[in-house]
Amino acid sequence: MSGLSKKRVLLIIGGGIAAYKTLDLIRRLREKGIAVRAVMTAAAQHFATPLSVASLSGEKVFTDLFSLTDEAAIGHIELSREADLIVVAPATADLLAKMAHGLANDLASTLLLATDKKILVAPAMNLRMWLAAPTVRNVATLRADGVIFSGPGDGDMACGEYGPGRMSEPLEILAAIEAALTGDTVLPLPAYPRADAAVAGALDGRRVVVTSGPTHEPIDPVRYIANRSSGKQGHAIAAAAQAAGASVTLVSGPVALADPAGVTTVHVETADEMRRAVEAALPADIFIGAAAVADWRTAETAPEKLKKAAGAEQSLTLVQNPDILAAIGWRDRDRPALVVGFAAETESLIEHAQKKRLAKGCDLIVANNVGRGSNVFGGEMNEVTLIAADGSERWPSLSKKEVATKLIARLARQLNEARI
Ligand code: PMT
Repeated sequence: MSGLSKKRVLLIIGGGIAAYKTLDLIRRLREKGIAVRAVMTAAAQHFATPLSVASLSGEKVFTDLFSLTDEAAIGHIELSREADLIVVAPATADLLAKMAHGLANDLASTLLLATDKKILVAPAMNLRMWLAAPTVRNVATLRADGVIFSGPGDGDMACGEYGPGRMSEPLEILAAIEAALTGDTVLPLPAYPRADAAVAGALDGRRVVVTSGPTHEPIDPVRYIANRSSGKQGHAIAAAAQAAGASVTLVSGPVALADPAGVTTVHVETADEMRRAVEAALPADIFIGAAAVADWRTAETAPEKLKKAAGAEQSLTLVQNPDILAAIGWRDRDRPALVVGFAAETESLIEHAQKKRLAKGCDLIVANNVGRGSNVFGGEMNEVTLIAADGSERWPSLSKKEVATKLIARLARQLNEARI
């Protein structure tokens, strides 16, 4: 059994319909050898019974702050002291608000305020409650306090609506718990909707600039330095932003794709032309650099086709191209509210991408592994990890269109929630 077998979780069950899922979570934690002691709020007991929680956890369930018998057996402060991790699932809007404001008026909130242990929350609530300004503020406060979030996801809700606010599945929460217990937690980004059609209108009135495709750096009138980018990812992003209501300028290197409908497309060849076209397209609310800009160009472009001399070597002197993304990311004036880069790596994906995000002044970097066999350059699918200042999130392999829709949905939400 893993090193998890000696770990203890204090599970605080909040009052929501998703409370029933915690029964499965308890079972799975115990299968891993993790001991679970549960606390249930008064509301939680309407959705799951203390008896079923006690049967599955094999431990007494605590419900009352002022229980003489419980205090005699184990003081409420001791409950959190003996735990390696505190998990709140479902974390209702009410519990999140109490945590964010330091309220302590029942056993659950008192434990949460009195602990110095790591806290992981799995929010669950109606989508309007999740999107409400006070919840958005509370989530930001808790994230700044170091609270780890698992979810919520989006999907059909018990209230008949569809959207974000659905509690993560027990296996997802389990994975987050394992990561938190083993110390290699990457704080997940706040949950934004998965790819969905509901993005329509989310970027109404916004301006988005996207770069896409390769650049061609001429060697002579017929030869050039290039790479294998097809433009599929960047073009899909421009199309998704347009579908979300944005006014979009796509600055595209040479590709064999049609211009996306409704998008202003500027065709360029070289990195320098791309830089100028991007600057001309500003100001914008969002800049997304999905192009595979050539890092180098020849120091000089031969005016005529270079001739080969029999058997002789030919060398090229390369100089660095302007870094378009870094220029936008570090801009003092007219910097887009969100600057998003891509990182195409063949090894140490996350480490290199994190460094690139910092070096280029990006709010978010989308890391994709373009190593041998990945087929990301030119292919239809992409598997990306989003890296921001406050965490990272790995998405499964998706079509480039799905990556684009998900990315645009996330950026729109981020922009709108931040009221920028
Ligand atoms: O076009 P596809 O076939 O659909 O493939 C998609 C893709 C692999 C090209 C795309 O998903 C991707 O990863 N794009 C970025 C490719 C890249 O050049 O990555 P990079 O790690 O070398 O550059 C990092 C970032 O800096 C990128 O946002 C890039 O646009 C930007 N950059 C790089 C160099 C430069 N001189 N100027 C830049 O703006």
